[in-house]
Amino acid sequence: MSDANAIKHVASPLARQTLLDGDLTRPVAGVRPIRLLPWVQVVKIGGRSIMDRGPEAILPIVEELRSLLPEHRLLILTGAGIRARHLYGVGLDLGLPVGSLAPLAASEAGQNGHILASLLSADGVSYVEHDTIASRLSIHLSAARAVVGSAFPPFHHHEFPGSRIPIHRADVGAFLLADALGAAGLTIVEDVDGLYDSDPNAPGGDKATLIRETSAADLAKAAGTLPFDRALIDAMATARHIERVQLVNGRVPGRLTAALRGEHVGTIIRTGARAG
Ligand SMILES: Nc1ncnc2c1ncn2[C@@H]1O[C@H](COP(=O)(O)OP(=O)(O)O)[C@@H](O)[C@H]1O
Ligand SMILES: [Mg+2]
Repeated sequence: MSDANAIKHVASPLARQTLLDGDLTRPVAGVRPIRLLPWVQVVKIGGRSIMDRGPEAILPIVEELRSLLPEHRLLILTGAGIRARHLYGVGLDLGLPVGSLAPLAASEAGQNGHILASLLSADGVSYVEHDTIASRLSIHLSAARAVVGSAFPPFHHHEFPGSRIPIHRADVGAFLLADALGAAGLTIVEDVDGLYDSDPNAPGGDKATLIRETSAADLAKAAGTLPFDRALIDAMATARHIERVQLVNGRVPGRLTAALRGEHVGTIIRTGARAG
């Protein structure tokens, strides 16, 4: 065989198959991926529950994040809040498709990230864009104890058209990123003590009870409102690394710190990822 011919024959266990046959792909693709940044703690800060409340809610969280820096290396991700809802309202009235609305909402998550990063900048923390998170996160986290980014995933114009409102929002984005990085953990910061059996802030909410621990599989069977994206449940079902997510109340000082130390101070949701 001449050299020219040999180059054309690429030796690959996946070369001769469609990628749809699970029996054929599993031996090659079924192995657990490596953890890229096993020491990074991912913290998602709610847009509506924290950022929209202004200094009263943001400054104590900034203080707590600052105090966590010597102990943890953090990827802080911010969600969208009321400004995205306004954008959805205006855009839906105009008939904009979901793929046009998704990047508009994502821009608010980024704005919230810029706000948070500015407040932490004296501690070496800066805002980084998605492409930096994708390819240069380790260099930034070698230079600083934490960086801030947008939790909103860049589905943008590729957002699934099943719903007029993007289904892949900040909670899904933060989870997908944490799982892809093989992060040490994901903590979602809200303005409630965790997940309740019904919205504690809705009429009759005083009867709502806190669910201390549950699983993505159990949540998939239940209807009702949630303090996070419903699509998070699907993302959790196929997780490779992140075995549990904790939802904590960021309005109570110390809860985030305790959660990052492994304490059970909110709602723990077990995912589909296997231990080991
Ligand atoms: N089952 C539930 N358990 C807890 N909170 C809920 C539930 N359903 C709805 N909520 C509401 O979700 C609110 C948080 O809103 P959300 O849109 O998730 O904010 P953020 O943009 O910060 O993520 C809580 O303040 C609470 O009123
Ligand atoms: Mg939420």
